[in-house]
Amino acid sequence: MNNIPSLSTSIGHINLDTCTYNASGVNCITEENLRELALASTGLVISKSCTLEYRDGNPLPRYYEDKDGMYTINSSGLPNLNYLEYGKISSKISCYKPFFVSVAGLKPDNNMIMLRYLSDVGNISGIELNLSCPNIVGKPQIGYDFESMEEILRRATEIMGPHQREGIVNRKAFGLKLPPYFDISHFNNAAEVINEFKIDFLTCINSIGNGLIIDPVEERVVIKPKNGFGGIGGKVIKATALANVNQFYRLTNCDIIGCGGVQTGIDVFEHILCGAKAVQVGSQLKMEGVLCFSRLNQELKQIMESKGYTKLEDFRGKLKVIED
Ligand code: DHB
Repeated sequence: MNNIPSLSTSIGHINLDTCTYNASGVNCITEENLRELALASTGLVISKSCTLEYRDGNPLPRYYEDKDGMYTINSSGLPNLNYLEYGKISSKISCYKPFFVSVAGLKPDNNMIMLRYLSDVGNISGIELNLSCPNIVGKPQIGYDFESMEEILRRATEIMGPHQREGIVNRKAFGLKLPPYFDISHFNNAAEVINEFKIDFLTCINSIGNGLIIDPVEERVVIKPKNGFGGIGGKVIKATALANVNQFYRLTNCDIIGCGGVQTGIDVFEHILCGAKAVQVGSQLKMEGVLCFSRLNQELKQIMESKGYTKLEDFRGKLKVIED
């Protein structure tokens, strides 16, 4: 009898062999990075958020982690090859598994130019529109401005509808990378906007923006950009991530991708219990490298086996609350 639990899942209409993969941003800029991710035990591969033009990113140091992975801080400033390059690289990655591209235009019009092009590239299975980059000086996070978000989604979803080319209908999974929300009214506002449109998936959450980590011995900040302010990741953001996964699972019909604070199989299990269909790994990938995926998958399978679960749907979204 074969009782080995299956970790297979889907995002929109895209099927994945396993439910863990990289968070956009970590070790996913170059073709070499992306191939390494494709050869690891990932369900899919997603690129670094891209822009119209190549970017070097912010000055160094722009990343810092504490010794036990409690927290990380980053302010990379969108270093990437440019959107056309990720279109080209897609053929090198899609031969292994689904390839998603993350898009983060510096202006709304730039997002539309990139979506128009990438939505027609056959080797790309999905696009994650990043509405939550906290690290560009002078650019607010769109996910916190519900009016701009609505306008961008109106334009983006028109572009992302089914494309007909050479008689073949080509539709990509289309989703959003959201910032963390902290107030119930903001969850409701964001969900109301999202529910107006055809959005396949939501990735919850991006780093907690504009945190400040300091070195008390040196009496100094630890990263250079923005006077030391940057996006916080690591174990400390798990509670916020789980809350966002669970809220958007309840409030929308989108597939939810959990991201935030994942270090062990238990963390993956908790994200799925809150409703996630797949789980991204950011800080832990940075600290441990691509072997984290086989370890996390193995740990998740062990937890499932011990509970008698054979597939993710046996427990996904079945978080219990405390009844009277
Ligand atoms: C960067 C950081 C983010 O959190 C993000 O969503 C996009 C880009 C960065 O600094 O490169």
